[in-house]
Amino acid sequence: HRGLVGIAGLAPHEIHYMLDEAQQWVEMNRQAKKTRDLLAGLTIINAFFENSTRTLLSFEIAGKRLGADVVNMTVATSSVKKGETLIDTAMTLNAMHADAIVIRHASSGAVQLIADMVDCPVLNAGDGQHEHPTQALLDALTIRHAKRHFNGLVVTICGDILHSRVARSNILCLTSLGAEVRVCAPPALMPEAIEMMNVAVYHDFEKALQGADVVMMLRLQLERMQGQFIPSPREYRHLYGLTLERLAMARPDALVMHPGPMNRGVEIDSNVADLVGRSQITTQVEMGVAMRMACLDVLTRRTRAVEGWA
Ligand code: CP
Repeated sequence: HRGLVGIAGLAPHEIHYMLDEAQQWVEMNRQAKKTRDLLAGLTIINAFFENSTRTLLSFEIAGKRLGADVVNMTVATSSVKKGETLIDTAMTLNAMHADAIVIRHASSGAVQLIADMVDCPVLNAGDGQHEHPTQALLDALTIRHAKRHFNGLVVTICGDILHSRVARSNILCLTSLGAEVRVCAPPALMPEAIEMMNVAVYHDFEKALQGADVVMMLRLQLERMQGQFIPSPREYRHLYGLTLERLAMARPDALVMHPGPMNRGVEIDSNVADLVGRSQITTQVEMGVAMRMACLDVLTRRTRAVEGWA
């Protein structure tokens, strides 16, 4: 069964296909309508071993809008807390004959491990520092909605690039679609050899902003920093915070994006996050539901004996 573990496994035409598939759900979602019983009779398990608001809820809403039965495994009250291993947990979920399993886990590679063991499609909802493919797809859908194309678009991604699966998936997705991606971070939060990912590397945020069409801000992932120098929120905002003054250095119609959760007043000021016409942050959440509907639909087509990408 084909799942979605990363953007790394997708060809550009497959990314475009997912964007087109998601587009059909955007308007219907805006009216918060339950669409139709496309996935009626299917069982989707959400197994989130790390906290989430947007991804968990949007997968749940996406599944329910398409008529599936969605079950959330609550890790805090599960047998994981009694020492059950990830593999035993995966085998237990498999024995329940789910039609799709959505997994978030703190360890890079955990989702692939499970995908290799179970009999249904597995969707990666974020694994450690590795990938968050549905986030990149919803971000691309948001950009395409506003800008209509990707070719030559300058996208500046600024923040804790080292620990960010969102950055990694977005770099893979946007470069594959023809955008020019810049990454900006303090040296300690920039992965080594990131240039190999076909991006331009900046440590000076103001330079990275010049001529940008899209500015994507990321939070400091304090939960993934061990023994590392952590700048104070004030220091960090001083050098890398997106203020109105800094936003003026990008193109006049530059989009402001953030995958959330935001730390207002640290990586992004409130007056930028809430800037009408420029901030896409709530649009990203809307697009998240549409994209997750598309992912659940496309990846369960084989189970439903429907022709399609999967
Ligand atoms: N963007 C994102 O993954 O948000 P959550 O952690 O709230 O799911």
